[in-house]
Amino acid sequence: MKELDGRLKFTQEETLVEVRDLKKWYPVQTTFLDKVFSSQRQFIRAVDGVSFDIHRGEVFGLAGESGSGKTTTGRAVLRLTEPTAGTVRFNGIDLRSLDPDTLREMRRWMQVIFQDPMASLNPRMSLGESISQGLKIHFPERTSDHREITFEMMRMVGLTPAEFYYSKFPHQISGGQRQRVVIARALVTRPDLILADEPIAMADVSVRVLLLDLMKELKDELDLTYLFITHDLATARHICDRIGIMYLGRIVEIGELKEVYTHPLHPYTRALLAAVPVPDPHERRNEPMPEGEIPNPINPPSGCRFHPRCLIAQEICSKAEPLERELKPGHFVACHFAEDYL
Ligand SMILES: Nc1ncnc2c1ncn2[C@@H]1O[C@H](COP(=O)(O)OP(=O)(O)O)[C@@H](O)[C@H]1O
Ligand SMILES: [Mg+2]
Repeated sequence: MKELDGRLKFTQEETLVEVRDLKKWYPVQTTFLDKVFSSQRQFIRAVDGVSFDIHRGEVFGLAGESGSGKTTTGRAVLRLTEPTAGTVRFNGIDLRSLDPDTLREMRRWMQVIFQDPMASLNPRMSLGESISQGLKIHFPERTSDHREITFEMMRMVGLTPAEFYYSKFPHQISGGQRQRVVIARALVTRPDLILADEPIAMADVSVRVLLLDLMKELKDELDLTYLFITHDLATARHICDRIGIMYLGRIVEIGELKEVYTHPLHPYTRALLAAVPVPDPHERRNEPMPEGEIPNPINPPSGCRFHPRCLIAQEICSKAEPLERELKPGHFVACHFAEDYL
């Protein structure tokens, strides 16, 4: 049983995060004339009805092209941005029910690793100060231990000798080391959930696998659960246990990573996978990514949102929205013709 200052107690639920019909719509900036002549407000439907569970101890991936709504979903799940609709339960607790103070305390258990370590670190703060920030916020009564806890965390992420790096500044270290600082800063409060949003996309190719392996090790050592966001299916293959494929604000397919990669049921998933280099040439799929850009999320296409780019689209696809169906245990897909690929 965990406690927040006696205000809130929660147990260790098997489903760490439960997301139901989550939406995040941004109002479109309009000019004064638009407002006068148009009665309807327009919205960018960045996330438009997304549901998934994250099981304790797993790495759940969200993948899809840029603009599909992955970052917005992650931020809405952690309530870094206020959702337009839908519920998120963390350890069984509806995050909407929390007052701002309690939500702030909950952040100890939900931390974030962003894509760009240079942008997320304060250039005027030493690495030690940056990493120990969460301790100051969440454990102000234990100031005398902060330095030692920070050293220990720095050693765990490979910033050694910790005493040497503690007083350095972000511009004095390499990009890979900066990402280690960001990881240490996220883990120092011993959270349950880490939102990792494209955590290696900016890193040098030579250190990407090292950082992924480090994140895997730390997950096991510290009993973490990851919501791992990436546009790159090869990266996802390296670290994710289950995956959801996003397209234009929706999840089109979801399941165990191995199952989705070997038996993709949605044409969008097949197209994404066709672009990924595979170790086994027999596994290669010849379904290229269809032409065209990801459409505008202000007015998503009718019926199935993917139909204008889909190679197997039929008449029904522009008319009716496909329902999400569980075609194999734990493998969900929203495509009218998914059964043909079973
Ligand atoms: N703060 C915002 N205001 C308006 N539109 C936004 C905002 N954040 C994201 N969007 C739009 O929402 C859509 C999804 O963006 P995002 O969640 O960043 O996708 P991804 O992370 O998959 O690239 C995009 O069309 C993006 O332009
Ligand atoms: Mg993003």
